Amino acid sequence: MRMDGKTVVVTGAARGIGRAIAERLAQAGAYTVCGDLDAEELGRVTAGIDGAGGQAEPHRCDVSDPEDVEQLILAAEARGGPHALVANAAIQYERTIEDTPPEDWDQVLGVNLKGVYLCARAAIPRMRRLGGGSIVNMASVNGFWVEPQLGAYCAAKGGVINLTRAVALDFGKDGIRCNCICPGYIDTGMAQRYLEVQPDPEAARAEAGRLHALGRIGRPEEVAAMALFLCSDESSFCTAQPFIVDGGLSAGVPAR
Ligand SMILES: NC(=O)c1ccc[n+]([C@@H]2O[C@H](COP(=O)([O-])OP(=O)(O)OC[C@H]3O[C@@H](n4cnc5c(N)ncnc54)[C@H](O)[C@@H]3O)[C@@H](O)[C@H]2O)c1
Repeated sequence: MRMDGKTVVVTGAARGIGRAIAERLAQAGAYTVCGDLDAEELGRVTAGIDGAGGQAEPHRCDVSDPEDVEQLILAAEARGGPHALVANAAIQYERTIEDTPPEDWDQVLGVNLKGVYLCARAAIPRMRRLGGGSIVNMASVNGFWVEPQLGAYCAAKGGVINLTRAVALDFGKDGIRCNCICPGYIDTGMAQRYLEVQPDPEAARAEAGRLHALGRIGRPEEVAAMALFLCSDESSFCTAQPFIVDGGLSAGVPAR
C-alpha cells in the first residue's frame, strides 16, 4: 500500500495510536500534516518522521476548536490535500454519568465527538474539490460494547460510529469514503491511565489481556495498519463501516 503524492491529516499524533498512524502513513510515502494539543511532543514525532526519510509537519491544534481545525486542514490544502484524514484525537474520562459534571461532559463530547465532526466538516469541501477522499475516524469497541465508569466516553464513541455512517451516506456521491476504527485495549498512555485508576492496576492489566481472544492487549502499530488500509485506495469499496481491531475482545467471553 503506497501513499505517494497523498497528503494526509492525522490528529492526536503526538503519542500513542495517532503517532503510530502518522509514522506508518509517512513510511508509506504520504505527506503527513499532524495536529495535537501537545506541540512540543508533536515536534519530536514529526522530526523523527523527517529523520527517517518521511515528510511531516506539526501543528498545535485543539480539535474541539473550529478555528484550529480550519488552520490544520488549510495546511493540508496548501500541500494539495487533504486526500485522507484520520480524526484520532480523544480524551479518556473515567466516571459514571452521575459523577460527571456538565462541564466535563461538554469537554469529553467536545473533543471526542465534536472534534471528529469539525475535522470532517473542514475536510469535506476540500476533498470534494479533489474528486474524493478518505475519512477515518477513531471510535472504539466502547462505541458498542460498554465498560463501567465510562459513560461520557462511550456516548461519544457511539456517536462517532453513527456520525461515520452519516458522513459516508451524505458524501459518497462526492467520492468521499468515511469509515471508523474500533480498537480494543491498545498499549498507550490512555490505556495505562485507565488501568492505573483501577483498584489493582497490575491485576487489571493482566485481566485486560485475558479479555481478548488473543490473550493480550494490542499495539498501536496494529491499529495503524488498519488506518493505512482505510486511507489508501486498497479500501476503495469500503465505506460507512466500523472496522474492529480488538483481538477478539468484543466477540464474547474468551476461553480460559
Ligand atoms: N488506547 C486504547 O486502548 C484505545 C482503545 C480504543 C480506542 N482508542 C482511541 O484511539 C485514539 C487514540 O488514543 P491513544 O490511546 O493513542 O491516546 P493517547 O492519550 O495516548 O493519545 C491521544 C493524543 O491526543 C491528543 N489530544 C488530546 N486532546 C486533544 C485535543 N483536544 N486536540 C488535539 N489533540 C488532542 C493528546 O495530546 C495525545 O497526544 C482515541 O480516539 C482513543 O479514544 C484507544
